[in-house]
Amino acid sequence: MERYIIKGGTPLVGEVGISGAKNAALAIVAAAIMTDDKVVIDNLPDVRDIKVLLESIEEIGAKINRISENCVEIYGGTINSVRVDYEYIKKIRASYYLLGALLGRFHNAEVALPGGCNIGSRPIDQHIKGFKALGAEVEIEHGMIMTSAEKLVGNHIYMDVVSVGASINVMLAAAMAEGNTIIENAAKEPHVVDVANMLNSMGANIKGAGTDVIRIKGVPKLHGTEYSVIPDQIEAGTFMFAAAATKGDIFVKNVIPKHLEATTAKLLEIGCTIEEYDDAVRVIGPEVLKCTHVKTLPYPGFPTDMQPQIAVTLALSQGISIVTESIFENRFKYVDELSRMGANIKVEGNTAIITGVDKFTGTQISAPDLRAGAALVIAGLAADGFTTIDDIVYIQRGYEKFEEKLRSVGAKIEKVSTDHDEQKFKLKIG
Ligand code: EPZ
Repeated sequence: MERYIIKGGTPLVGEVGISGAKNAALAIVAAAIMTDDKVVIDNLPDVRDIKVLLESIEEIGAKINRISENCVEIYGGTINSVRVDYEYIKKIRASYYLLGALLGRFHNAEVALPGGCNIGSRPIDQHIKGFKALGAEVEIEHGMIMTSAEKLVGNHIYMDVVSVGASINVMLAAAMAEGNTIIENAAKEPHVVDVANMLNSMGANIKGAGTDVIRIKGVPKLHGTEYSVIPDQIEAGTFMFAAAATKGDIFVKNVIPKHLEATTAKLLEIGCTIEEYDDAVRVIGPEVLKCTHVKTLPYPGFPTDMQPQIAVTLALSQGISIVTESIFENRFKYVDELSRMGANIKVEGNTAIITGVDKFTGTQISAPDLRAGAALVIAGLAADGFTTIDDIVYIQRGYEKFEEKLRSVGAKIEKVSTDHDEQKFKLKIG
């Protein structure tokens, strides 16, 4: 099993380029199968979740032509099945986008129930509510979700919770429905906008994405397109907190600074210096980090996907910080691991009370999920001595070339598979 071995204590300094947004790309790949024509997707992050999704659409007959690490051509014209039961698909959350895409195009879909990171109960009732409102029947049997409709007809849908997945899924299903669909209380995340833009480039008529009311005028057919995925705001934010926690200085390139405002605001509050450019941000960590309070909220609030990264950083600040997680109820699983590195954190319900410490010390820990795993890497990079992180498969789901990018800003980190390789790294680094 692969793991990371890290020698911490070195400020991260240098430049890093950000990949395409995983959570936008997953929905965009699903959208690509809604036409017979060729769809070219560029700036696609080369991460495990995307590979699984591409393999699963290949399984149902789509042709994939991998042009380069970050560019694929997808041909949906050869799809011969609407049943997605690919061995690995249950492991990724975004399998649910295949429901919306196949339902929208073929009026019929059967997809294995989604899995994904275990960060709390993750219902899909709002997705189902949306499909039903468009006229589909939905049933769950033997671990599969089955949905079909004679025809899909636009409707007025009010989302009971703000859900990225449900907003996007209903957009997919409604793009070719008859008449107009209005999604109220829609999620406003940049990836919702990116998927709407991509669908519009295929001939859809979607307005209002990025606000809480999305209006979709159904079109009879979608056509091919060439589309480039937006930069990953969570990957960018992860490097920004890595700069803060290691007292480093990182120039984070290929970002949309507007998407990073909540992250930037918190970094300023805790004493970092930020320089903003058109498509880059520079973060300079202070000698002493200040404490703050933060609550995760739907966009434009502070993202839940950045909660572990800020908590790790606040655990090294001066004073008492409070982190409130309002989106997922089980997103503090990394706290026990971090405590073993010397952090002082008490979790009560959805709140973590963090008393800053001067330093972490390295030990053997494991990644409980994707973002928490990345946050623990930041902890290891800031810690004294060696840290070993197991279960890095979670991290590989969503970060492209993570260790390579970290090494390019001076991190001492290696991906190893054996004790022998771990020892070799320790001897080399000293
Ligand atoms: C997406 O998950 C992301 N995943 C998550 O990324 C991210 O944490 C989350 O949005 C919030 O930004 C993908 O895009 C594949 P939601 P999603 O539906 O769509 C509740 C990462 O690390 N809810 O916006 O599953 C839900 O329980 C991750 O990359 C319902 O009650 O999130 C949660 O409390 C992990 N019913 C809230 O809404 C529903 O039908 C927001 O969830 C749907 C959601």
